[in-house]
Amino acid sequence: MPPAIQLSHVYKVFGDQPRGRALSLLKSGMSKDQVLEETEHVVGLDDVSFSVDKGEIFVVMGLSGSGKSTALRTVNKLIGVTEGSVRVENTEVTTLHGRALQEFRRTKLGMVFQHFALFPHRTVLDNVGYGLKVQGVDRRNRERAALEALEMVGLAPYALAAPHELSGGMQQRVGLARALASDPDILLMDEAFSALDPLIRRQMQDELMTLQEKLHKTILFITHDLNEALRVGNRVCIMKDGAVVQIGTPEEILTRPADEYVAEFVQDVDQGRVILVETIMHPPDPLRLRGRTISEVIAELERSGPRIVVDDADKVAGILTAEDALRVSKIGSQDLLKALRTDVDSTTPAANLASNYAAAGRGLPIPVLEGRKLVGQLDPIEVLAELGRVERLAEDLRAENANGEATPDPTTNGGGGDGGGGASSSHDLAVTP
Ligand SMILES: Nc1ncnc2c1ncn2[C@@H]1O[C@H](COP(=O)(O)OP(=O)(O)O)[C@@H](O)[C@H]1O
Ligand SMILES: [Mg+2]
Repeated sequence: MPPAIQLSHVYKVFGDQPRGRALSLLKSGMSKDQVLEETEHVVGLDDVSFSVDKGEIFVVMGLSGSGKSTALRTVNKLIGVTEGSVRVENTEVTTLHGRALQEFRRTKLGMVFQHFALFPHRTVLDNVGYGLKVQGVDRRNRERAALEALEMVGLAPYALAAPHELSGGMQQRVGLARALASDPDILLMDEAFSALDPLIRRQMQDELMTLQEKLHKTILFITHDLNEALRVGNRVCIMKDGAVVQIGTPEEILTRPADEYVAEFVQDVDQGRVILVETIMHPPDPLRLRGRTISEVIAELERSGPRIVVDDADKVAGILTAEDALRVSKIGSQDLLKALRTDVDSTTPAANLASNYAAAGRGLPIPVLEGRKLVGQLDPIEVLAELGRVERLAEDLRAENANGEATPDPTTNGGGGDGGGGASSSHDLAVTP
């Protein structure tokens, strides 16, 4: 079976004479900057080769200007190459023109962009079906396809809503549904999630992976965010100055960075330092004790698990578990404040997730504070799961770097609910119950 997508020795030079001196200088080994200086031609792609397997999520990652979008656009020939071959299955894309090109784009490819414009005066359903309408699909069939696509992204209930009624994350999902509506084999996604809030963005990544498991599309996914790349990619291709620096699985990229450039990207992934608290925190769900009976509170805690308790001024007073509340009620006390755990680890939205490792090991929700205001909370299981993922990836890297700079190893403290908070940078909370 041929690869779903294959770029072979693709060059793209922007300028008046792309095949002239600029190309030969580039091929002789000149850098993108030098070529620009010598010839005033911009190098978009410099001998790019990669192949994407059928059913794979292949991520192209790199800084702004590294050539990611250019590479993606050669696949649907929005950009023609200066030299080289671009194949989609058995089709040589570079030779397609006119109707054949239109037909190819229509049947094979779906595209999702970062800034995705919805028609404001059409319903969500009409927006999703718009591409099909342009293709001349009749109303019944296009509405059925659009509704199916909306179902895939969880937006069927919003089919008749107007775009302005949707949040940013939902609008991006409509973009995905629009690409899915024509049931293409291949999805081209260019920074599709980059404009979303961190929490929504993470949800979209999860949904994309779930969708992928169900639909087995081939996905070429572009991002400038290494953490996103490692999260969603089966394989990751790292680009710099129009050239491919490394292609590998997330594990390979992390454990065997091809050069200094990749290593620099990767070093921050070690210990989950690149994952911020805000990317996985939930809206706060605090418990207020005033006016509640102890048995009511115990019943609620048994349903919900341990909760952050706030006082009348909305300041965090501590954490309450059903067990602690029961113990107090058994000694005949009605004063739940006595049952509060006040040695609470808190954190901030911009803190690194790794700094919450020991705290998460206690198994209690972690308050996220901005100043003294409770702005969110972390689920300890999610913290450990997320760090575990990064830890597994980073384990070998740390072993290889063992002779270098000593880094604290979060796997050696906390984890088992030692209750001590360990050496993590848990923030002490001045508690006023
Ligand atoms: N139409 C164009 N004309 C001239 N230069 C372009 C054009 N499109 C992209 N470039 C240049 O090609 C390089 C790669 O751009 P792009 O693929 O958009 O990067 P990325 O998507 O990684 O941010 C950049 O230096 C950019 O300035
Ligand atoms: Mg781009």
